[in-house]
Amino acid sequence: MEFQVGVIAGDGIGPEVVAEAQKVLNKVGEVFGHRFHYEAILMGGCSIDATGVPLTDEAIAAAKASDAVLMGSIGGNTQTSPWYQLPPQLRPEAGLLKLRKSLNLFANLRPAYLYEELKEACPLRDNIIGDGFDMMIMRELTGGLYFGERKTEEVDGVMTAVDTLTYNENEIRRIAKRGFDIAMKRRKKVTSVDKANVLDSSRLWRKVVEEVAKDYPEVTYEHMLVDNCAMQLVKNPGQFDVILTENMFGDILSDEASMVTGSIGMLSSASLNDTKFGLYEPSGGSAPDIAGKGIANPIATILSAAMMLRYSFDLDKEADAVEEAVRQVLKDGYRTIDIMPQKDKETVTQVGTAKMGDFICERIK
Ligand code: IPM
Ligand code: MG
Repeated sequence: MEFQVGVIAGDGIGPEVVAEAQKVLNKVGEVFGHRFHYEAILMGGCSIDATGVPLTDEAIAAAKASDAVLMGSIGGNTQTSPWYQLPPQLRPEAGLLKLRKSLNLFANLRPAYLYEELKEACPLRDNIIGDGFDMMIMRELTGGLYFGERKTEEVDGVMTAVDTLTYNENEIRRIAKRGFDIAMKRRKKVTSVDKANVLDSSRLWRKVVEEVAKDYPEVTYEHMLVDNCAMQLVKNPGQFDVILTENMFGDILSDEASMVTGSIGMLSSASLNDTKFGLYEPSGGSAPDIAGKGIANPIATILSAAMMLRYSFDLDKEADAVEEAVRQVLKDGYRTIDIMPQKDKETVTQVGTAKMGDFICERIK
């Protein structure tokens, strides 16, 4: 089959890791008889440099016209980059938020899985790791604090900033349904995370999740307060299957979950709407400190491409092959610097971004 893939390489390590994911897609094409056509799309700092804005209307139109979009990362050093001297709506991140909103990408899936081979890179003690863990963070992506009204103004002579956290029941219901649907294909457990002891938006969240849960009698579900969830993730990560949560909590918890898997360089993500379209990106950032050095871990981006094969193109066999190749490359002892073990370094080989991509391609069968 033929597929049109929009490619947002972006800033920092983005272009380096996206190149490896494209290599992998091309290899999948060769082995399984598909063709992937790519169209480069500008977003983030590189778009600011070229056009003055982080996302143009043409870029949105190009993304919409593709079957799916593969993305690297956007943004730079927030303390030193001139992009952060611009007004907030012209900064790199504003491009990503605008794209998510324009394409209605309300469901963000972030799988956090501990590979047997990476137990060494996991910062948790062995007795906590136990048999490992495998969770899916379902983050609502187009509502909440990220998209509520905001302003900074002087009130009675005092500078005051306001961000608004809004959710309506429809926004909660559609993400909750997605969460329960995904749970049905996994271990059938949903942990809905909120702050219902303080926030109205969370109390509504809880009520709607309970209504949705009635349609999924096979799924066990529980509510958990977000502060407790942050603690449970490092105390007993094995308890989680699907974590269902709002935008801001999901942003924070997914970084935490990625770190307990060993490295944020391993965490893929898919942002989906009601159609087959999706935006696929590693959960990590642009890592400007290591950009251009050829040492970034491309695995999260490669696994995001595998999610693209699975969710947007219905190519499950192909997605399995990519995931298996990643497992195999780790088994064979290849590591980028971020997932190098603390001890027994002699048992593995450190490789750079491009070599990691090549070795994964070799293992796609
Ligand atoms: C993420 C990122 C973004 C977010 C930033 C870059 C706006 O941290 O995808 O998790 O906060 O959603
Ligand atoms: Mg984040």
